[in-house]
Amino acid sequence: MRKLKIGIVGLSRGRGFVSVFSSHPDVTISAICDIDQKKLAEVGDAFELPDSARYSNFDDFLNDDMDIVMIATPIPFHAEQTIKSLQSGKHVLCEQTVAYTIEECERVVEAVKKSRKKYMMAENYCYFHYIREWKKIINAGEIGKILYAEGEYIHNIFHLLVNPETGQFYWRHERPPIWYCAHTLGPLLMLMKDRIVKACGLTTGFNIHPQFKDHPGFLDFEVGFFKTETGAVVKILRSQVPACPHFVWYCLYGTKGHLENKRVKGEGFIYVDGKTPDDGEVFTSSVVDPNAPEEAKKGGHGTSEYYMIRDFLDSIKNNTEVPINVFRATEWTIPGIIAHQSAMKGGTWLDVPILG
Ligand SMILES: NC(=O)c1ccc[n+]([C@@H]2O[C@H](COP(=O)([O-])OP(=O)(O)OC[C@H]3O[C@@H](n4cnc5c(N)ncnc54)[C@H](O)[C@@H]3O)[C@@H](O)[C@H]2O)c1
Repeated sequence: MRKLKIGIVGLSRGRGFVSVFSSHPDVTISAICDIDQKKLAEVGDAFELPDSARYSNFDDFLNDDMDIVMIATPIPFHAEQTIKSLQSGKHVLCEQTVAYTIEECERVVEAVKKSRKKYMMAENYCYFHYIREWKKIINAGEIGKILYAEGEYIHNIFHLLVNPETGQFYWRHERPPIWYCAHTLGPLLMLMKDRIVKACGLTTGFNIHPQFKDHPGFLDFEVGFFKTETGAVVKILRSQVPACPHFVWYCLYGTKGHLENKRVKGEGFIYVDGKTPDDGEVFTSSVVDPNAPEEAKKGGHGTSEYYMIRDFLDSIKNNTEVPINVFRATEWTIPGIIAHQSAMKGGTWLDVPILG
């Protein structure tokens, strides 16, 4: 089979994808795009791409000969760039989340339906090693039906909201923390095989950085409570400015057992009723698959990006459904938008539209 040609736009996060796709035997990098000439030159030189493959204008980039566009630009550009890429006959792998508004999500869904091309949201946390292991345990029925789940994604990215020296704001300053909900809801809903139908949000306000109270990115904490289609309950916590280390934490309670990773470092545990001792069984929290091939470690976030890309490329080659299609992608995006609306109303329960 001929190699698939890929173009990558947004070379900050996208640089890692240039690296991981370059080392894939079935792919060639046809083009890269960034409005920042310095980044364009840096990445182009690092991967020995000719000048003709380097674009600073997205529309010109789309005219290059490509099968796939990987979108790794700031979220406000996702909807427009996704729709244009699909309309020009390309498959799309787009960073999360789908978009910032429900109307934009609807437009992306319509564009995917019309295009007959593959669209996958690049929610890499679904591919963490321990999440892939949990999926096997849950699918084998070990912990039973999942009734309750929690996720916390806590990451101090103050320096990505504002430049502390110049005071210049970056795009994330206006992103309420809970809009970025796919890292928490994505893995949980994938494991639960469920969808959110109602949301309630709460926030503690702007106590950590009161001087930035007009910039929703600086909200201290946002919590989302959700009800799912099958009657389960989910809670997520988000902060972009906490006074604590970066961590990602999940737990799931089923009718027969419980799974949990460790909040900061080390091991988590699994408990299966009647099988494990009361203090649970130590279970890996590693994001790296120890049995993965060497090239799997070239992507970011452990071995997650390697497996995510492998699934996406396989679905193109075999013409099968992508694992995180546009419906899953919007189901992991819209609840955060609604939870923020709820938080701004003091915590009213609101319906969550399902687009599929
Ligand atoms: N999955 C993950 O773990 C993860 C981690 C970090 C970022 N992200 C996602 O990656 C995306 C990019 O985030 P980032 O941290 O790289 O942001 P960033 O602001 O650091 O970089 C964005 C890059 O896109 C370029 N750019 C901006 N507008 C453009 C346009 N219209 N056309 C072409 N290039 C443009 C900028 O010059 C910059 O190089 C976001 O969607 C973010 O949510 C995902």
